[in-house]
Amino acid sequence: MSPAAAAQLAPVTSRDAPLPPPAHAAAPLAAVPSAQLPIGTLPQPWRTIGRHAVLLRLTPDEQARLDALTHLNHFLAQEVVPAMRGRFERDAAVATPEDRDQAFDLLERDPRYGIWSELRRNSMEVRQQRNLEAALRQRDELAAACRDALASAEAAATLELDPTFTAPDYLVKTHAHLLPGGYLTDGGADDVAVGAAYEASSYAVVPGRSGPHSDGAGRALARWLVARFPDFRPRRILDLGCGAGLNTCAVARAFPDAEVIAIDAGAGLLRYAAARAASLGIRNVRWVQADIEQVPERFGGADLAYTAIVLHETSHRALRNVFRSCHERLAPGGLTLHVEQPPYHDRPWFEQCMRDWDGRYNNEAFWSRIYELDLGDELAQAGFERPRIFEDRVSAVPWNTDPRAPGKSEDYGRTGNWQVVGAWRAPA
Ligand SMILES: C[S@@+](CC[C@H](N)C(=O)[O-])C[C@H]1O[C@@H](n2cnc3c(N)ncnc32)[C@H](O)[C@@H]1O
Repeated sequence: MSPAAAAQLAPVTSRDAPLPPPAHAAAPLAAVPSAQLPIGTLPQPWRTIGRHAVLLRLTPDEQARLDALTHLNHFLAQEVVPAMRGRFERDAAVATPEDRDQAFDLLERDPRYGIWSELRRNSMEVRQQRNLEAALRQRDELAAACRDALASAEAAATLELDPTFTAPDYLVKTHAHLLPGGYLTDGGADDVAVGAAYEASSYAVVPGRSGPHSDGAGRALARWLVARFPDFRPRRILDLGCGAGLNTCAVARAFPDAEVIAIDAGAGLLRYAAARAASLGIRNVRWVQADIEQVPERFGGADLAYTAIVLHETSHRALRNVFRSCHERLAPGGLTLHVEQPPYHDRPWFEQCMRDWDGRYNNEAFWSRIYELDLGDELAQAGFERPRIFEDRVSAVPWNTDPRAPGKSEDYGRTGNWQVVGAWRAPA
């Protein structure tokens, strides 16, 4: 493994040494020093975000607002959630709820839940609306930065948009986590506003604890793969539902000899991802507009086909199609992996209810159902053989809270303690 790849796989915790500078540090990215800041468990202020050519520029007031939101969420997780849990557990010992709805009724009796929920909902709305507003205000500058980043023929060739593409209905109609207009917002040629807003909101939602480039899931996935299957050397990787490419870039860096095909429905997201990757010096990714339910045949023969935090935003039917598509596009002996939050079945009622907040109040239409599913069963139905299916845990964010009181609480639904579900395709 190259030193650069090894650096990308270094564990990320508050006590770790600062991250080494990324491979592109010699490029004209004067602001990259932020990437070398140690990552702590306290919220990281906006100014520590990793810089690149198409990053949203926030005014000092906007930065202060985002930082205030992250501190509000930190306070809620630290001070309010533990008190709620204490009362819930006392009540549940008497009422003994039998399902999540009953547990939820119990939780709602605590007036703090309503206040917690209102504050959280407001923080989500403010974060999404203000970041998108800032991105739309800068639409022309961002478009120019995108053009510049993709000016060379080599960089331009990494982006493959399809003007005839029709997005799945569920993406058109449901705007996950209150992102106004959803993922498909597209102002036409060179517009990257939706991607710029997405990265800013991602940074704010786990306040910088996923790293300066908000790529904790990608780094965790790569680190887990190398640790678990040290001889696995994927040559063709499919990243399904790549979004703004935050985690894709971490995987691409970890496997510099692989060709990564990153697929998404959103043209604005893909333009942003391509320009951002070019600006960060990442050259082994093709950004492709297509439906992950039917990955085009030309991307067949893949060694690895994965999703990172995507399945909870797909309908159940779409999830089954995605798994089938992975099976079809993998080479014999190839691997499919899916990183998600842990399923509900083995979690206590309080945690289930807290996690389920997104399904109830954060416009995550498919959230609750997906965490009730057994993804191993779904992989089996998609054609993977039972003995080749596995589950594991990955930790991507140096959770969980305040270094002065480690383990005191966590911000449910934003934790980095994820589940990875995967399967090997049978060899030829
Ligand atoms: C939570 S976001 C992206 C997460 C991304 N993998 C990351 O790690 O940052 C989910 C993405 O899946 C994409 N998506 C969902 N269903 C899709 C489909 N059927 N075809 C293509 N993209 C899809 C959405 O457009 C969105 O960008």
